[in-house]
Amino acid sequence: MAFTRRRPSSVVVAAALLSVLELCSLLAGPASAQGKTGQVTVFWGRHKDEGSLREACDSGLYSMVIMSFLDAYGRGTYDLDLSGHSLAGMGDAIKRCQFLGVPVSISIGGFGAGYSLPTNQSALALFDHLWNTYFGGSLNDTRRLFGDAWLDGVDMFLEHATPAEHYSTLALQLAKHNIRAGDGKLLHLTATPRCRFPDGRVKEALDTGIFERIHVRFYDDPGCAAGGFSAAEWDRWTAAYPFTKIYVWHSSLRYTAPATLRRAVLPVAQKAANYGGVMLWDRYFDKRSNYSGSIKNWV
Ligand SMILES: *[C@@H]1O[C@H](CO)[C@@H](O)[C@H](O)[C@H]1NC(C)=O
Ligand SMILES: *[C@@H]1O[C@H](CO)[C@@H](O)[C@H](O)[C@H]1NC(C)=O
Ligand SMILES: *[C@@H]1O[C@H](CO)[C@@H](O)[C@H](O)[C@H]1NC(C)=O
Repeated sequence: MAFTRRRPSSVVVAAALLSVLELCSLLAGPASAQGKTGQVTVFWGRHKDEGSLREACDSGLYSMVIMSFLDAYGRGTYDLDLSGHSLAGMGDAIKRCQFLGVPVSISIGGFGAGYSLPTNQSALALFDHLWNTYFGGSLNDTRRLFGDAWLDGVDMFLEHATPAEHYSTLALQLAKHNIRAGDGKLLHLTATPRCRFPDGRVKEALDTGIFERIHVRFYDDPGCAAGGFSAAEWDRWTAAYPFTKIYVWHSSLRYTAPATLRRAVLPVAQKAANYGGVMLWDRYFDKRSNYSGSIKNWV
């Protein structure tokens, strides 16, 4: 579900959907699980030798690609770091992905320390930057990185942020503008928090209730996801945001064998009515390992 114009209507629609789901579950007994969705999202942009964006979309393996990262903002300068990928032809690649039905998002944040949103003003300025550079603003401006190509979503990947920052202002601003993204759908607003619930860096933004998807990072916190997944944390995330699709993040940094993901993780995750699919970190790893190819039928 892409987020809609006004929050009340999306809540009403979501509530209606939920009661349909509840009705189905009453009729069908315990089979209220979401089950497979076939959705595999991948991060792209962290390795120069992972292959091009176009190749990632052409592989047919992914239902969404998230470009990473816009890792400098909040202090008047902005920088998209794609690990040395050439920007030439990128606009055409984005359009190609969209033609194939694969939306392309941009993730803000990342592992560097060059970003922050200390004030509402900085959040509004970031919105303007995103809108004018990657979405529908100033379409004829020759400084646009991807020409007149128009991205499909914004992801928040916040390693360095505090609860005092203004990501909810950014989220609400994106919603307020009712952005119709390049694939003709409403903008996909997503977040990729750490696995321990709640993640204070992005909690206030998520609590607006307008996020379409959350990719829970089951990897970097041994106390939270020692085995690459935690059913207890999964239950907290899925219960807290019933109108948001929750994705299982799988990372090459904490490798779970495809067979383990299939047998031990996905059946548990798919019990949630708002299970969304799997998010892979990252395209470089996936291209070498064919991980998505080997889990595709179970996602
Ligand atoms: C920032 O914006 C939010 C939402 O528009 C508003 O509720 C809040 O009061 C603002 N904070 C400041 C310090 O202006
Ligand atoms: C942008 O360019 C197109 C054709 O190149 C033109 O039709 C359109 O009016 C221009 N828009 C603006 C805002 O200048
Ligand atoms: C990836 O794995 C799947 C399932 O094992 C297989 O069908 C497919 O041919 C593999 N693709 C590549 C490129 O090796």
